[in-house]
Amino acid sequence: MNQTSILSQAESISGEIIANRRHLHRNPELSFVEFNTSVFIQNALREIDIPFTIMGTTGVIALIGAGERCVALRADIDALPIDEETGLDFASTNPGVMHACGHDAHTAMLLGAAKILKTREAELGGVVKLIFQPGEEKVPGGASILIKEGVLSNPIPEAIFGQHVYPDTPVGEISFVSGPMMASADELYWTITGKGCHAAQPHQGIDPIMIAAEMIVHLQSIVTKMRNPLKPGVLAITSIHAGSVTNIVPDVVELKGTLRSFDNEWRHEALAHIKHHSESLAAMYGAVCEFKPLLGYPPLINNATAVEFARKTAETIFGAEVVSDFEPKMWGEDFAFYAQKIPACFWVMGVRPRDLSYLPGLHNAKFTPDEESFAKGSALLASVAIDWLSNPKPL
Ligand code: NI
Repeated sequence: MNQTSILSQAESISGEIIANRRHLHRNPELSFVEFNTSVFIQNALREIDIPFTIMGTTGVIALIGAGERCVALRADIDALPIDEETGLDFASTNPGVMHACGHDAHTAMLLGAAKILKTREAELGGVVKLIFQPGEEKVPGGASILIKEGVLSNPIPEAIFGQHVYPDTPVGEISFVSGPMMASADELYWTITGKGCHAAQPHQGIDPIMIAAEMIVHLQSIVTKMRNPLKPGVLAITSIHAGSVTNIVPDVVELKGTLRSFDNEWRHEALAHIKHHSESLAAMYGAVCEFKPLLGYPPLINNATAVEFARKTAETIFGAEVVSDFEPKMWGEDFAFYAQKIPACFWVMGVRPRDLSYLPGLHNAKFTPDEESFAKGSALLASVAIDWLSNPKPL
């Protein structure tokens, strides 16, 4: 068996992979309510005689092969609350919902890999576990729910691999990075309660807008002065709501924001600092600040051995010239939960058409990945699983 034949096998079913992706694109569903998407995946697996179970209501977990060893491949299946503006003839028919993060392509590519793996089932050196995961886009993340339901046991995968389409690199370029790849992403919510009054009688009130303004500036000191500068961190306040007229000081200001880090320890220290500083600053003026963080995903840390393994497979299939280093991003990705439990490698695959220098990015209403990359994604997923199981366990 060689990888060239897996790539040509993937290319021979490229039409089907694209058709599946277009069906999913036309029928996007939001996180945790991917009911029709789940049925579509189940039917596709039934058609090629792959057994599966359901987890997390809409997640589909399939097994191919037999034996002691196991490796997992994961695709996310949910869409976003975005109004599509691509003008494609297979654009979303579900108003206000769009596959703007490419999870339609991820699902179709994993289905393509399933088909390839099924034809080679007898040659597999173990079990390939396919995880079609719901709710990547919404805290607490489908990955955390599936893990609680036992997706990483029975059988236990030695490693897990996943991929994301990437608009910044041309079609077919595969990029890897060891260690931190994406950041923790926590949602932050503040309610600052002062005391409303007429603006002309400030001594009769407590102005929460002035406190909020001071707080927004002050909190940056947690990132600039309380963080090891060698450990990246972002604190952004992205929403502020209060008041309605020119002459009345309101009672309440509401703020929202995000905290990002590659370092779990600093992340929790920073949350404690934000709470302490916010409450203290408000108290200084006699106001009350309630700070409520909603913990999101942990940082995504790739395992060096798993990365090296997948990278070698990618170089063998496509040539080293299309394999590059990924520059870590402070985005969030719930694949991080798997990576906390078992060796993991997440890579990105370029989907920018070769004749374009810019493709609207992920979560953009005009995001349109080049479909030529999808067969390559199926080939790489299938090859990594086959290679993993036919080589001695590297970890
Ligand atoms: Ni995504």
